[in-house]
Amino acid sequence: MPLIEVDDVHVNYGRLSALRGVSLNVEDGEIVCICGPNGAGKSTILKAIAGGVRPRLGAIRFAGVALMGKAPEAISRLGLSFVPEGRHVFSTLSVDENLRIGSYQRRDRTNINADRERMLELFPRLRERLKQPAGKLSGGEQQMLVICRALMTRPRIILVDEPSLGLAPQIIGRVYDILLDMRRRDNVTLLINEQSSERVMRVADRVYVLRNGVIRLCIRPADIADGRSLKSAYFGFDEPQETLQEGAQQ
Ligand SMILES: Nc1ncnc2c1ncn2[C@@H]1O[C@H](COP(=O)(O)OP(=O)(O)OP(=O)(O)O)[C@@H](O)[C@H]1O
Ligand SMILES: [Mg+2]
Repeated sequence: MPLIEVDDVHVNYGRLSALRGVSLNVEDGEIVCICGPNGAGKSTILKAIAGGVRPRLGAIRFAGVALMGKAPEAISRLGLSFVPEGRHVFSTLSVDENLRIGSYQRRDRTNINADRERMLELFPRLRERLKQPAGKLSGGEQQMLVICRALMTRPRIILVDEPSLGLAPQIIGRVYDILLDMRRRDNVTLLINEQSSERVMRVADRVYVLRNGVIRLCIRPADIADGRSLKSAYFGFDEPQETLQEGAQQ
């Protein structure tokens, strides 16, 4: 049974149809990336899974449990951690307090301390700023912190919306290092949105290409001989020009 199953999901924002029958799945322990241009619906998929937007139609299951209609907190308690865009740190709390918030529902004190230590080893900048208010960190440092906070919950799966947005290449490498490290050690499953198809091809087991609210392609980077099918799915070459559907059918 897949860990995540998204089955024919439709999401509207008012009259705008943002997802038009999206189906995808994520197996336990997999790294799956969704890539696609601006406005494709990538963030909307993650929000729909995490309970932040309510689909008009379709089904979403996590380890076989139906998620539709559940509150984000209830979904998070099942072991699903969501890092939305925008680096939401608790800005008046210290870096350390932000990290500890991630683990407040855990009881395994020894492991919590070991996990915290592991994050701080990978991101020495956070260690240097442990007692400072998180709001004083740079954008990149805040991004590291929100990912670490999400990992501190020891989720079964972590959904990350554009982890590399606005980060320097060296920092992006480190953000991916920690995500891959969590997968290797703890079998954390990853579902990641990225605009850049090149980066996802390096880290993902499978890549979905989304454009205008429709999945255009699902590929395994290992199987790709050249990037033509990916480019054509991403940009919509060889297809009639489309416009976003206004006033979706009910
Ligand atoms: N809260 C909202 N209200 C109205 N329209 C929205 C809302 N959120 C997203 N949209 C629209 O839905 C579509 C999909 O948006 P979404 O944010 O999911 O795309 P995305 O693939 O994440 O884009 P980006 O790469 O720019 O982050 C876009 O046309 C967007 O304008
Ligand atoms: Mg987005």
